[in-house]
Amino acid sequence: MVKIRKAVIPAGGWGTRCLPASKAVPKEMLTIVDKPAIQYAVEEAIAAGITDILIITGRNKGCIEDHFDRNVELETFLDIKGKEGALEKVRLPAGFASIYFTRQQEQKGLGHAVCCAREFVGREPFAVLLPDDLIEAEIPCLKQMMDVYQRRPGTMVAVMEVARDEVKNYGIIKPVRLTSNIFVVGDLVEKPSPVRAPSNLAIVGRYIIAPEIFDCLDLVGPGAGGEIQLTDALKMLAEKDEMYAYKFYGTRFDVGNIAGFISANIQMGLNHPEYGKEVERKMLSILDSRLKVGSL
Ligand code: G1P
Repeated sequence: MVKIRKAVIPAGGWGTRCLPASKAVPKEMLTIVDKPAIQYAVEEAIAAGITDILIITGRNKGCIEDHFDRNVELETFLDIKGKEGALEKVRLPAGFASIYFTRQQEQKGLGHAVCCAREFVGREPFAVLLPDDLIEAEIPCLKQMMDVYQRRPGTMVAVMEVARDEVKNYGIIKPVRLTSNIFVVGDLVEKPSPVRAPSNLAIVGRYIIAPEIFDCLDLVGPGAGGEIQLTDALKMLAEKDEMYAYKFYGTRFDVGNIAGFISANIQMGLNHPEYGKEVERKMLSILDSRLKVGSL
């Protein structure tokens, strides 16, 4: 069995749903508790055994590269001051995996972004993680998928159930159930209307993809929103090879919009080993005062 070593993290989008916060700071660098959102995707990839990560950036995204680079001056300063804890936090993001960067020259959609990884990927299966989808899970979502991949090697998308009126925001699959949480993908549609949606199982931004996807991406034209859609290329691939959908265990937050971003901060803040207790106290006191004035 081929071991999956490589992951692609597209991070070239404008982040319009996070404006004005994302005007000068890339949305991937907005912090969830104490780390930029993209670091959660990088750490999830590493926890799943990935050793080589390509981050697809774009214009004005230079600070993503800085974040995963070493900052020797800062490390020296913290070392001299004896701030061991801070030193460890600063060192971590660049450790354990090789991180590479390339720039998507034009914003032509997720499929186009993945195309930028062709040389990096070569002819082996690879993972894709969308940093807008932050998944809190005891076993990281990509690791869960890798475990399924051992038994069912093939292209696989992570899915979750969504309300019917939300299907228009996602890629939706037509499932044929194999087990309680593994499906064969019969079809995929990007951002369908509720009447056209083949189910309410939505693709979440975790994929394991065969390298043949690049041949499909060459053939697909603009799809939903006038963009080159990864879902359209996956649909083409599913017509040739068996493809799986995996309903993961965990909670997913869409941190690419403000409400999801705030919810993720609350949840991750409450669970944080260092700050959790204090966040909980503050939250309870906020809720208590809202109860007293009758706004809850
Ligand atoms: C992308 C994919 C879509 C998927 C979604 C998950 O859409 O195109 O199939 O369901 O991510 O977050 P986007 O949210 O980038 O429009």
